[in-house]
Amino acid sequence: MNSTPAAAAVATARGVPGAGSEAGRRALRRFASGVTVLTVNHDGVRHGTTVSAVVAISREPLLLGACLRSSSAFTALAREAGVFSVNVLSSEQASLARQFAVPGRHRGDAQFADVKWTTDNMTGAPLIDGCLAHMACALTGDQEIGDHHLLTAEVLAGDAGQGAPLLAFAGQLWHEGLAALDTRTPEDKE
Ligand SMILES: Cc1cc2nc3c(=O)[nH]c(=O)nc-3n(C[C@H](O)[C@H](O)[C@H](O)COP(=O)(O)O)c2cc1C
Repeated sequence: MNSTPAAAAVATARGVPGAGSEAGRRALRRFASGVTVLTVNHDGVRHGTTVSAVVAISREPLLLGACLRSSSAFTALAREAGVFSVNVLSSEQASLARQFAVPGRHRGDAQFADVKWTTDNMTGAPLIDGCLAHMACALTGDQEIGDHHLLTAEVLAGDAGQGAPLLAFAGQLWHEGLAALDTRTPEDKE
């Protein structure tokens, strides 16, 4: 029964084909996010995928979440490997964001042929040179939600550098030109 005002609003929105979802998608694209390449190594098969839907979930324990399409090859490999690495792209690395998003791209090591990388000694996955940060992660959850999977993972180790991030915003990639407002509390300072 749709007896509450909230349930009635949902029913009304869903009754107008496409209306709510299209406006909602446009609105969601106004939420800026960083861009990562998630990498994995399952039994010697290395793979990388561009993902911007990455979020910090918990500080203690340190957990992050990543949302990937259910058809994602990365998700299948990460599920098998149980560990993966996060490469946080810098403003200089837009070409990598595009490269690791091409459907039907080379599989395995060929994906990394023109990329400088080293091996993450915790996950065995590629760590791409020049990134703003890297994290080694252990998968803690894999939940199918809508047409995506929400992977949750504990951050086991990380390294962080300086520089500007690559951002995904309004359906485009953005770099540089960001001005910091110094409103951090002393605890936030690096
Ligand atoms: C800037 C950018 C951000 C992206 N973010 C995501 C994301 O958050 N989740 C997702 O499933 N795909 C995302 N994609 C698309 C995937 O990278 C693309 O579908 C890729 O081919 C999936 O690879 P896989 O099937 O090998 O895992 C993004 C692509 C770009 C260019």
